[in-house]
Amino acid sequence: MSTTHRIVYDDSSELSGIEDESVDLVVTSPPYPMIAMWDEMFGELDENILNLMKDGNYDDAFELMHKQLDKTWNSVYRVLKNGGIACINIGDSTRTFEGVFKLYNSHSRILNSCLSIGFESLPSIIWRKSTNAPNKFMGSGMYPVGSHVTLEHEHILILRKGPRRIFDSPESKSNRNLSAFFWEERNKWFSDIWFDVHGKLQNIDVSRERSAAYPFELASRLINMFSVKNDLVLDPFLGTGTTTKAALCSERNSIGFERDDTLSELIDKEIRESRDFCNNYVEERLDRHLEFIEIRIESGKEAKHKLNNHEGYCVSSQEVDIVLSKISDIEISSSGYEVLYEPLDR
Ligand SMILES: C[S@@+](CC[C@H](N)C(=O)[O-])C[C@H]1O[C@@H](n2cnc3c(N)ncnc32)[C@H](O)[C@@H]1O
Repeated sequence: MSTTHRIVYDDSSELSGIEDESVDLVVTSPPYPMIAMWDEMFGELDENILNLMKDGNYDDAFELMHKQLDKTWNSVYRVLKNGGIACINIGDSTRTFEGVFKLYNSHSRILNSCLSIGFESLPSIIWRKSTNAPNKFMGSGMYPVGSHVTLEHEHILILRKGPRRIFDSPESKSNRNLSAFFWEERNKWFSDIWFDVHGKLQNIDVSRERSAAYPFELASRLINMFSVKNDLVLDPFLGTGTTTKAALCSERNSIGFERDDTLSELIDKEIRESRDFCNNYVEERLDRHLEFIEIRIESGKEAKHKLNNHEGYCVSSQEVDIVLSKISDIEISSSGYEVLYEPLDR
């Protein structure tokens, strides 16, 4: 078993070189409109944006920023297979201009745009990122009316192209069985508020002060929830390469687009050095499962199904064929990276 991973240092608005209906899953997080760190980047895409902001016309600038992102959502729809899913992590933004505080609601702007392109909306996830910053509560303190609620969550929109994906051949059914997740993972991952995914430390030594990376766990969960082994996962706003790393760790192929080529060294390092990280992650995943089963049995509940490919038991018959693999090697080729796997032998 092997997977391939390609990084394209280019603008994703056309997703050039990617064939129609060739991608199984999109997992991504775009630059957030009206978050100051992205103002200049949006200005490079459309100079009217910075002019509007200089004039204090933030509302129109916000709309033009989204018009840039719309191009990529249109292309994402083109390249997704029927039944394919797009998971878009997006936070809303707040901005104060000349003393007037305002919320810029990016998640609803992107949702409306994707619905008009033709996507179906599935229930979304609130990613709760708590902060203990001393200035967490802004406004009029303990006095009523003048304060606003602290923005401590982001959204993960989940959109599907067309009806649900079908697995009808014996091979595709068998691959789906190997790609299953554990019962207790299902219970956590498919809840609509994620409290337990912690933000990533944002210090990278490249041209930007902060990477705006999402945590590995966020990408890894989405990939395991909405694709099967050997699928193709696309991230049109790759950033530091988190989606690539999560895809290769889960035995999926991937393509990432990133317009900022100063990130190439960092992305290359993330991928080439991912073997130990991924192998530990997979070992810990099985450890967590075995611990869960032990506690469940101690509490008098059942876990009567035996895993076929690993030690231990599980709660439901749908889990018995799960296969977790380790990475044996990561090779560099002219078209990208090839990742080779070996069984997790326990
Ligand atoms: C929020 S960051 C993504 C972070 C990523 N999820 C991670 O974990 O590192 C958005 C990225 O999209 C890139 N970007 C913005 N517009 C783009 C475009 N039109 N095409 C390709 N990349 C773009 C930015 O340079 C930035 O690295």
